[in-house]
Order: sequence, then C-alpha cells, then structure tokens
Amino acid sequence: MDFIDRPADAGMITSSSDVSLPSLLWGEERRAAANAPCSSHVGDVGSRMASDEGGTFFIGMERADDVAAREALLDRAMGPGRRRKSSEKLRRGRRPSEGLDFVAKDADGRLVGTVRLWDVRAGEGGPAALLLGPLAVDPAVKSAGIGSGLMRHAIREAARLGHRAILLVGDAAYYSRFGFSSEKTGKLAMPGPYERERFLALELVDGALDSASGVLKASGRKAKPAPMARAA
Ligand SMILES: CC(C)(COP(=O)(O)OP(=O)(O)OC[C@H]1O[C@@H](n2cnc3c(N)ncnc32)[C@H](O)[C@@H]1OP(=O)(O)O)[C@@H](O)C(=O)NCCC(=O)NCCS
Repeated sequence: MDFIDRPADAGMITSSSDVSLPSLLWGEERRAAANAPCSSHVGDVGSRMASDEGGTFFIGMERADDVAAREALLDRAMGPGRRRKSSEKLRRGRRPSEGLDFVAKDADGRLVGTVRLWDVRAGEGGPAALLLGPLAVDPAVKSAGIGSGLMRHAIREAARLGHRAILLVGDAAYYSRFGFSSEKTGKLAMPGPYERERFLALELVDGALDSASGVLKASGRKAKPAPMARAA
C-alpha cells in the first residue's frame, strides 16, 4: 500500500508505506493544490505510481465538494449513533481547526478516509488543544493502512502548525500506536457521557496538558449558518 502524501503537482514525487514524510512537503503548495480539481492530483499520482503493487492512496485537505462523500462514509463506517457522541457537542456549529481536515482518496478519486481536528480548551481557561475525530475508513478498504496514514499525517500537520496537544475518545488498543494514552486526561472530562478509559491524549509539546483540568470547551471558529431559503 502506498500513500502519496503531498500534491502531485508540487514537483518531486515521494511515496512511503508509513507516510513518514518530511513536513516540508506540505505548506502553501498543498493549499494551492487543494484548490485545484482533485482528479488532476489523483490522475497524476495514479499514473506515476501505476507500477506499484496494491492500491495507491492520496491524503490531502478536504475540499468543499468532499462533504457529501465524507458524510456518507461516516454513516457507513460508524452508523447512525455517531451524532450522539459527546465529541459531537464540541464539534457542532464549529469549523475544524484551520488546515486540519483531511481526506484519503483512492486512485479513482473516491473518498475512502476522513479525519478532522477541532480547537478546544482543555478545561475552563485551560490550555488550547485539539480534539481529533471522527477518524473513519471505508469498510471496503479496512486494514490497508489508510487510518494510520491519516493519523500520522494529522499529527504531523498539527505539530507543524504549532499545536501542543491532541485529545480524542477512542480505543487505546488502536490509538496507542500513535502515542496516545489516558495518562494526561485524568483531570479532564468530556461534556457528556463517555468511557473514561477511552479518553486519550497525545502531547505534541511535553507538559502541554500538565495544568489542564475540567471539562473540554469548544473554542473553534463558528460555522456559517446554512443560507435561509429565499421566500418566493
Ligand atoms: C478504526 C479505523 C479508522 C482503522 O482504519 P484502518 O485503515 O482500517 O486501520 P489501519 O489499516 O491503519 O490499521 C489496521 C490495524 O488496526 C487494527 N484496529 C482497527 N481498529 C481497531 C480498534 N478499534 N482497536 C484495536 N485495533 C484496531 C486492525 O485490527 C489492524 O491491525 P493489524 O495491523 O494488526 O492487522 C477503521 O477501522 C474505521 O473506520 N472503523 C470504524 C470507525 C471507528 O471506529 N473510528 C475510530 C473511532 S475509535
């Protein structure tokens, strides 16, 4: 399984099975590329990587026209209960943290994975942090490394953008491989029901959560309200 972790039209082609690519491959070039039609990335990448065995996947920033496919994927991967999670309280009415919403696409441009990160305060007046989720991969391509690719990419980008800690609610058996544990969440709480042992954190800067206590608060940019239907 290969991932292309950078815009294909930014010059050098790099691929990696564990997506451990240098962060300098991402930046303004990626933003420019993110606004270009996705098919051009995937087409370029797919043709250049055609001799590789297995599937080829591209990880990039989510675009406005990815939203419907992302929502359909989340429904398929997580079921209808996904909207009742306590994390949803911290996401509702907010936009993801700037530059931290990612999708994985296959060589045909089909969206097969999603992860987004959200700005929160770790307790009232506490340090700024990110809440990660949902992370989901199309069940048809599970265990192909797409989830890990998205996670590693998201963590690296969060660190590059200067964020200091990432929190999430999920299975430690999966997220511990990326460095997450419940060690730093003992004094923190989610704003709704959750299983404490699944409340995990990763410090991107040592000690970032040392003073954190209390209930997480949403602190991200507000989402624009949906446009009102015009009266006839
Ligand atoms: C969890 C999920 C994102 C993993 O994506 P993926 O692309 O299949 O994962 P990867 O290929 O990176 O990793 C696969 C490995 O993780 C393991 N794994 C997957 N989910 C796991 C879990 N919940 N707990 C422990 N291990 C898990 C697989 O068994 C596999 O192990 P192996 O490498 O030893 O075979 C995906 O299965 C998914 O979308 N699940 C439904 C939604 C969900 O649960 N999201 C996360 C919320 S906790």
